[in-house]
Amino acid sequence: MLFDTHAHYDDERFEEDREHLLASLPEKGVGLVVNPGITLETSRMAVAMAHRYAHVYAAVGIHPENCHDFTGAQIDALRELAKEDKVVAIGEIGLDYYWEENPPRELQQEVFRAQLALARELDLPVIVHDREAHGDTLKIVQEFPDVRGEFHCYSGSPEMAQELVKMGWYLGFDGPITYKNARRAPEVVAVTPLERMLIETDAPYLTPVPYRGKRNDSTYVYLVAQKLAEWKGISTEEMVQAAWDNGKRFFAIT
Ligand code: NI
Repeated sequence: MLFDTHAHYDDERFEEDREHLLASLPEKGVGLVVNPGITLETSRMAVAMAHRYAHVYAAVGIHPENCHDFTGAQIDALRELAKEDKVVAIGEIGLDYYWEENPPRELQQEVFRAQLALARELDLPVIVHDREAHGDTLKIVQEFPDVRGEFHCYSGSPEMAQELVKMGWYLGFDGPITYKNARRAPEVVAVTPLERMLIETDAPYLTPVPYRGKRNDSTYVYLVAQKLAEWKGISTEEMVQAAWDNGKRFFAIT
């Protein structure tokens, strides 16, 4: 069975068929999904979906792109939400220096640190978003040596991947590894042990080839596994099984 460790079914692009699609995932070979929130509201939606579907788990967090109006009260709200059944991580949190209109870097860093501290307090793993912010993201997670986590849709260097592996962290791989311009990904995969790899869609975004341009969903995560298997020199079945075991271990799902 496939474990998609990162999908956003709270997204409006699933408005029309969300319940039908979620209900149909197990019969399509997707046995587990983790849905991270990107705001308080979507974190609440993620928890509600996890309560409705046995195969869906939730993470709660505030994404760096959505932290303009951050207050300490939001941390309190996340803390309460994180105590709910089936919340397995704090995420999606991190830094995003890509978009000009994003909140100021200092604010992003403050919100990131506050949520890492929450993860430490609650003893939960974190799901980290790092876009064009590799140095600062690594530096900040290293301030929290007790927190373990995953770099979702990993886009850093092979050297940074090795550093994260040494720290006990996991790396998430998504549709972009199937794109023609994925030059660094094979090098990253070469230095990442199989037991630290997670497969993700980031649905509805980042649809793998050959469906690029269409809306992404968890059924396409096998294309990510296929590409990783090719680079690792193992069968797709072995890759899928490893990613399943890794995901369950990482999120402590029994
Ligand atoms: Ni995401």
